[in-house]
Amino acid sequence: MFIIDGPAELRGEISVQGAKNSTLPLLSAALLCKGQTVLHNCPELSDVNIAVKILEHLGCRCRREGHDLIVDSAITSCEIPEDLMRGMRSSIVFLGAMAARCGRARLCSPGGCELGPRPIDLHLSSLRRLGVEIDESGGWLTCTAPQGIQGAYVSLAFPSVGATENLILAAVCAKGTTIIANAAREPEICDLCEYLNRCGGRVYGAGESCLIIDGVKELFGCEHRVMPDRIAAVTYMAAAAVSGGNITLRDVDNTHILPMLAPFEESGCEVRQMGGCLNIMAPRRLGPVKHIRTMPYPGFPTDAQPAVMSMAAVGQGTSVFVENIFENRYRHAQGLGRMGAQIKVEGKVAVVEGVESLTGAAVEAADLRGGAALCVAALAAEGRTRLTGEAHIRRGYEDLAGGLRELGARVRESEES
Ligand code: EPZ
Repeated sequence: MFIIDGPAELRGEISVQGAKNSTLPLLSAALLCKGQTVLHNCPELSDVNIAVKILEHLGCRCRREGHDLIVDSAITSCEIPEDLMRGMRSSIVFLGAMAARCGRARLCSPGGCELGPRPIDLHLSSLRRLGVEIDESGGWLTCTAPQGIQGAYVSLAFPSVGATENLILAAVCAKGTTIIANAAREPEICDLCEYLNRCGGRVYGAGESCLIIDGVKELFGCEHRVMPDRIAAVTYMAAAAVSGGNITLRDVDNTHILPMLAPFEESGCEVRQMGGCLNIMAPRRLGPVKHIRTMPYPGFPTDAQPAVMSMAAVGQGTSVFVENIFENRYRHAQGLGRMGAQIKVEGKVAVVEGVESLTGAAVEAADLRGGAALCVAALAAEGRTRLTGEAHIRRGYEDLAGGLRELGARVRESEES
């Protein structure tokens, strides 16, 4: 449980962790490459620990030295058992690499999760286009590539991040060329392609909607520095914004922050970006964030929606959110409501009437980014907030409580149930 005493006024500076959503596909890519891969700036997260367990189950040897993760890639199994799959839904990203490395793969369907059904239809239909045969019976995905993986033209109905990553990992060593139309453009895709090309891959157009991948015979692992976590960065920015704070973040990639700047500047924050740092100064009281609609990159990212809703909860005036990516991504509105926020949710739309102040309460995290948003709101609230379900937060934030404490917040972690 996190025990947070508000209100706080954040001051100081911290370094931002490496990106969870880049580390996971990079670990899958390390499976595909022969020899040793060294990932620098690899965050210590429970999701990363599960991904490492999966790699070790498949035959790789992994060891961590601080923020360096060393993977000696070998593959002796092509099946991910249920308990490991259940630990992390994004394990589906191992499918493409396993099918490519050993011509077959078996894993149990990742199933729904807290954000909605999380279908994998785009993953499967795309891999089938590359000649992967997939049997979905019995709640398992059994994949075989009898003729090996053949390059093909694939058009994604939606620029799915995970499906794009699976496709790239299946295509990079395929026979022939693959063209992916309507590919995801997220920075994590660019990070993955930069690593694969350094390992000998030929992936062109990363960050654009059309990717061209010339299959190569094999890839050899290399060193790579995981990109900074843009969502961790925006979470700390929101913490400063709600608390009238003034903080500096080190190790940010400022280009990735640009699509998220509008709500901060609209609500009266002053953001200065220089090199790998970002400084944010917040006003005593925030204005409204006006209108947020989540879109695929380079639109406003869905992962930043919860933290920005916490800002809107205490901002003056009305803010409107439209969540276009996930069906069920307003669960944090319940916890915010218990703290006194005025939020009306109607399907994809949430209308937030900013209030003068929130009050500490007992709240529960229902998912990773929603939990972080409740932490942010607790910093602005009068009194004590007891936040349970912080295991969700540990999936994606390397010591969020510690980071906020470093900036002057009063956050305690307690085993109290
Ligand atoms: C990745 O999830 C991230 N996770 C998510 O971050 C992020 O919110 C999301 O991309 C969007 O940016 C990781 O990278 C591990 P999608 P992913 O496939 O790949 C639908 C966090 O908090 N869809 O782009 O699962 C899907 O249901 C997490 O760090 C299909 O319909 O996202 C969703 O509505 C949360 N069929 C939408 O597309 C498919 O086959 C976006 O999903 C695949 C997806």
